[in-house]
Amino acid sequence: MTYINEHYLKLAAGYLFPEIGRRVKAFCDANPSANVIRMGIGDVTEPLAPAVTQAMHAAVDELAVRSSFKGYGPEQGYDFLREAIAKNDYHARGAEVDADEIFVSDGSKCDSGNILDIFGEDNVIAVLDPVYPVYVDTNVMAGHTGPADASGRYGGLVYLPVTADNDFVPELPKQKVDLIYLCYPNNPTGVVATKEMLKRWVEYAQRNGSVILYDAAYEAFITDPAIPHSIYEIDGAREVAIEFRSFSKTAGFTGARCAFTVIPTDLKGKARDGREISIHSLWNRRHCTKFNGVSYPVQRGAAAIYSPEGKRQVQETIDFYLANARVVREALTKLGLQVYGGVNAPYVWLKTPGNLSSWDFFDRLLHEAHLVGTPGSGFGACGEGYFRLSAFNSRANVEAAVRRFAKIL
Ligand code: MLT
Repeated sequence: MTYINEHYLKLAAGYLFPEIGRRVKAFCDANPSANVIRMGIGDVTEPLAPAVTQAMHAAVDELAVRSSFKGYGPEQGYDFLREAIAKNDYHARGAEVDADEIFVSDGSKCDSGNILDIFGEDNVIAVLDPVYPVYVDTNVMAGHTGPADASGRYGGLVYLPVTADNDFVPELPKQKVDLIYLCYPNNPTGVVATKEMLKRWVEYAQRNGSVILYDAAYEAFITDPAIPHSIYEIDGAREVAIEFRSFSKTAGFTGARCAFTVIPTDLKGKARDGREISIHSLWNRRHCTKFNGVSYPVQRGAAAIYSPEGKRQVQETIDFYLANARVVREALTKLGLQVYGGVNAPYVWLKTPGNLSSWDFFDRLLHEAHLVGTPGSGFGACGEGYFRLSAFNSRANVEAAVRRFAKIL
């Protein structure tokens, strides 16, 4: 028999969202008439913007005609999309990012996992706790950790707690770390990073020769004008940071699949012999070898979000989800819960009532109120006793959900 990658055997639990799905399915099979409202996984519910679907339809029509048909596109993405991203997402905010530093892909989840291909085995890796589980699990799979302890923490990783006790602001690592995952607006806590916070991280990375893996998948939900949307709004970030962005939550592409990763040409890593190596060149090599690009109609649809009508339509949907978050936040606060996030993010993070464990609260909500959320402990040991609710839903479901909360609390 063939040997397997034994690092997979260290994974302490199944991937969080399939595990929730399994429990919900078991409940629904046993209670087929229950009207279950799902506020667990952050998956969009509203349709693509008309500007997006029109552009996708037109692109499909181009593919139907020999003279405009296209085969393989550039692996890094079409220029029309990379240029629209550079201009609207970066130059418009005073951040210096060139179109050829943008790699269009099929998702930030994939990119944030795949990026480990180009980094060495011996890097010390820091993550926040709680954290988007993909950052941890992909490092386990790549063999960068020891086994998990009883709390689910893996040996070798540096965990930086973010809880109500420190206002969800992580301390800088006490030791030198090489790779740092940051996600702002944060999944799962919904909190944001100020310019000063990001400046401290950039300075830390400059001092220690570290690389920051900055996940900005939720930047479109920022409502506070003082909060940076990109790490490249911070001086010096081009030499120390990679940024992941996605059209999934910004424009409803969780099913259509389109995202991008920015790797500035100023960012360097080092080889064992001490040579400085361009991270951009390594990722370009990896991307061209293992990826054939996002489909042309999807890239045309993504580019349409930067047209005047596309911008307006996409903003309306984001405002709609943010209003859902407000409904949840205000109702749960009135019910006496401690509630965080949900102002610059589509996630509301709450302390479980009566000190219930995260999974006990999950089970209670599911069984008594037919509501699904995400147990905070699924995001890390410091998420224990917390719970995440997603605002991606219809208004009717959100209003019904808060009425159900009121009944059981
Ligand atoms: C979440 O619920 O945390 C997200 O949907 C996960 C993802 O974007 O992969």
